[in-house]
Amino acid sequence: MKHVLGLGGLLALWLLRNALPRRGQRIAKLPASEERVVILGASTLDGLGAALLKQCLLRGTEHLMIVGRRRDALEQVRDHMLAQTAGRRSARAHVEIVCAELTSSADIAALRDRILQQWGGLDTLHIVFGVTSILPVLGVADVDPCGVNASGAASTDVHPTREGLDRIAAAVRRSSDGNLTGTAMVLGALVPILQTTSAHPAVVVIGSVAGLVPAPTRAVYCATKASQHFLVRSVELECESQAGTLVPGTQRRRARVPFLLVAPGPIQNSFVATYAVDARTGPRDNRENALKVHDVISATLARLDHAQWGTLVMPTRAYVASLLAQVNATYVWLLTQARLDWVHGASTVQLLTVPHEGACGRPLGGVHARRKVA
Ligand SMILES: NC(=O)c1ccc[n+]([C@@H]2O[C@H](COP(=O)([O-])OP(=O)(O)OC[C@H]3O[C@@H](n4cnc5c(N)ncnc54)[C@H](OP(=O)(O)O)[C@@H]3O)[C@@H](O)[C@H]2O)c1
Repeated sequence: MKHVLGLGGLLALWLLRNALPRRGQRIAKLPASEERVVILGASTLDGLGAALLKQCLLRGTEHLMIVGRRRDALEQVRDHMLAQTAGRRSARAHVEIVCAELTSSADIAALRDRILQQWGGLDTLHIVFGVTSILPVLGVADVDPCGVNASGAASTDVHPTREGLDRIAAAVRRSSDGNLTGTAMVLGALVPILQTTSAHPAVVVIGSVAGLVPAPTRAVYCATKASQHFLVRSVELECESQAGTLVPGTQRRRARVPFLLVAPGPIQNSFVATYAVDARTGPRDNRENALKVHDVISATLARLDHAQWGTLVMPTRAYVASLLAQVNATYVWLLTQARLDWVHGASTVQLLTVPHEGACGRPLGGVHARRKVA
């Protein structure tokens, strides 16, 4: 009963927050033509960063910078989006390209210098880049009892070898670097620019429902996205306490930097297939009913325009799942095929994963994940 009341209260708070009349439109105070926008992670044509670039061009943004590690891919995204928006964007629109490994201090410092040289400041920072992981922790070590292993083969071992444990450590480090360390370093380098050069700064971070709801085969991804979420929410509080302090050597005061954390569920694009740190193949969610990139970006920009900070969870039902996760109520008892067979005999559950033939001919995808978390 206590739990139900608590959940009801949280739901009411959420409804109140989202039903409140929208005031203080940011877009009215900061015209698109003046806004200086950096998008970190925009080198994939079907990605959120590329879609952000397109939407920004369509709304008249003129000062844009896109960042990723692959120059060719960045150029392709820029050319494609400029062609797609031809005649519908400002004639003065200019898209800068910066190649940077966003976990490298040298590259991030060079990016900061480039922003200052190019524009003398920054208004909107979009943090999109990230990595995922698609194997269970035991699968990374090749001893997953359900056969979802890095090797693609079913395991006869119960205990991981030392090498297996090292592989777990490597997956966690790479995932943590890409999702947590990179975000922290980028915020460290660019928040001071936002605080001291913009009257209406903002940071948008693409998190994930995985940072809110635990899920099988996504343990490492969930862990690093949850830490990214906490980092972002905490840095926002730090920025609030720093707002109004004097900028040394001037009479100016630091602006308050608000944050919008976006936590989408699975999206219809190539991210999971390309940016997994632990395997190239493995169980995949069926993405037929997943979110569309365009819808995620439209909802994100609408929140940004209306200065509605906080967390945007998509789809809305995932917000309810995240509340249930607080009381372990999303814990799915029909989690694995093995357990289902054990309890009920033959399977009647339609699994969400796409079967993939393992080395021993056993379908890797048929064992896990009733919940979809990207
Ligand atoms: N797709 C989903 O189902 C889904 C669902 C929920 C949340 N998300 C989140 O959305 C974000 C990804 O966006 P997306 O799905 O649209 O995929 P995406 O654009 O393909 O994301 C990867 C982008 O990040 C860049 N990147 C990755 N690591 C980098 C690094 N260390 N330094 C510099 N750039 C780096 C990649 O560029 P380079 O390869 O050129 O470096 C690429 O442009 C992630 O934060 C992910 O957690 C995705």
